[in-house]
This record gives sequence, C-alpha cells and structure tokens, in this order.
Amino acid sequence: MNFDITKKKHDIKIISCNSNLTLANDITDKLGVSLTESDCKKFLDGEIFVKIKESVRGCDVFIVQSTCKPANDNLMELLLMIDAAKRASARTITAVIPYFGYSRQDRKMEPRVPISAKLVANLLMKAGIQRVLTMDLHADQIQGFFDVPVDNLFLTPIAIGYFNSLKIDDLVVVSPDSGGTDRARYLAKHLQCGLAIIDKRRPKANVCEIMNVIGEVEGKNCLLIDDIIDTAGSISGGAKALKDFGAKDIYCIATHPVLSGNAVSNLKGAGFKEIIFSDTIPIPEDKMLDNMTILRTCSLFSEAIKRIYSGESVSNLFV
Ligand code: R5P
Repeated sequence: MNFDITKKKHDIKIISCNSNLTLANDITDKLGVSLTESDCKKFLDGEIFVKIKESVRGCDVFIVQSTCKPANDNLMELLLMIDAAKRASARTITAVIPYFGYSRQDRKMEPRVPISAKLVANLLMKAGIQRVLTMDLHADQIQGFFDVPVDNLFLTPIAIGYFNSLKIDDLVVVSPDSGGTDRARYLAKHLQCGLAIIDKRRPKANVCEIMNVIGEVEGKNCLLIDDIIDTAGSISGGAKALKDFGAKDIYCIATHPVLSGNAVSNLKGAGFKEIIFSDTIPIPEDKMLDNMTILRTCSLFSEAIKRIYSGESVSNLFV
C-alpha cells in the first residue's frame, strides 16, 4: 500500500508497555514512525504507574502489549495505559495484544468458575478501547466477548511461506488435539499435504493423555501445529505418539511460546527436528534452544495497523 503514514488528518501514536518492546519497535520501524515516549514502572509495593510523555490529544493510539507472564502485571499495565490515553483525549484507542492471556478460560467447564476471558474483555472495554488487534486467539468466539471490533490475525500466512521454503518431502500436518483441527487443515491445504489428528484428553489442567493418532503418519515427516505451547505436555506427548506410529522427522509450530513449568526440558526431550514459534511472546535467552526458529510478526501487525488507521480493509491479511 502506498501512502505516507505521517500525513493523515489524525496523528498515529504507537505506545508500548513492557511485555513486548522488541515487537513494538519492529512495528514502528516498519511504519516509519517513532515509538511514543512513555513510562511504565512498578512501585515498591507492587502498584504499577504509567505515564504517556507526549500529547496524544486527538490521535489514533495503538498500545502494544501481550498479556503473557507475568500475566496480571502485564494486563494491569495495559489497562492503565488505556486509561491514561483516554484521559489524555486520544481520538481512538486500539489495544494491540499479540498474545491474549486468559484466553483458555473461555467457558464454564465446571460449576462455580469464572469466564475469565470475558472478564478481561470487559475490563479492556471499560478502560476505554475502541478496537482490539490480536493474533491467533485461542478460540474464535472470544471476539464476541468484546462489543468493539476485534481483528484476529493468523500466523499461518507467515508459516506457509516458511515451510514452503524448507521444501520438506512427504509432509503431514498434525493437530495435537481435535480443537486444533481447523488450523491444521488450513495449513495442510496451503502446503498441499496430508492431515492427521491426535486424540488427546486432558484429565486435569496442565496434564494431557494421548489416546490415538487418526490419519496416515507412518514413514512421513510430521508438522505438529498448535496455538499455544505452555508446559509443552501436549506437543511432546503428540511427538511421542507420532514416533510410536512410525513418523520420520517431527517439526512443531506454535504461535505463542508461553513456555511455563517444564516446557523447555519437555521440548528438549521430545526430539523435534525444529521448533518454530512467533515473537508474540519474547523468549528469554535461557529458554532458547538451538533448534528453535522465531518467525517475526511485525510486518503483519504493522500492515494491519496501517490499514486500521487509514480505514482500509484488513480482510486480505487473513489469507
Ligand atoms: C489447548 O487447547 C491449547 O491449544 C494448547 O494445546 C495447550 O494450551 C498447550 O498446553 P501445554 O503445552 O501445557 O500442553
């Protein structure tokens, strides 16, 4: 698209909280604007203080923050920054949330539990957002938890380009559970290869049991795809099942590297040929492995921001 982002009627301001400064800087570099100066710090008692250090009056403000670990602090930073922008008379406020934490608590699975993803959506709206820009929401229906537009980008266009460049023979895309079938089918269709599904049960939180593999994986190179890798229990269990069923090399890709608990040792032990993540959550150096590749999402986010800002369609970014 050909336009000068600095010459619109309303100024654009990109603000970053603390969770994802590198991605925020990459986005501003792509847009050709500077990151708006702000402070986001913690008092000794744990309270958070934020300040936007330049005027945002009448501006279209985009606040970049993943609500990853520490989830509650990161969420609070985002809420406070939205409030600060609102009270500083921003014209519009878009929360750019590359990884939307609490997204797995999206329904009542048992009595007397909250629907936390809905509560987080309410908090963000109450704080003052007009729009959300995010990537690979755990469940599409979370868009409906918001009464403002939600643009949910997908990593798949970037993943398709990457895997096409690897030119892997006899590839089968595998979903580690039935919930991820649509995502895996979409990738398999674009990579023009087969599809398999792992029958996974989760007897309790953070524990998974593999029951069966549906589809042909014997002698094939397999690509497991998930939205989130948290403890890596699901994905490493999936890799073991695929080995048991005679798979050759096993790759895995997930948009959001939550990587908590024993994730890194589980990933090491699973024997993946390559582990591919995006940069929606920064991975600390001590959790990086030699066989990890990080796909950058700044081009997609910056293009979406540009189009939202100029009132153009974002739908062909989803292909
Ligand atoms: C579950 O439905 C998600 O899509 C992921 O499969 C899950 O969050 C991964 O968690 P873990 O890595 O702890 O098995």
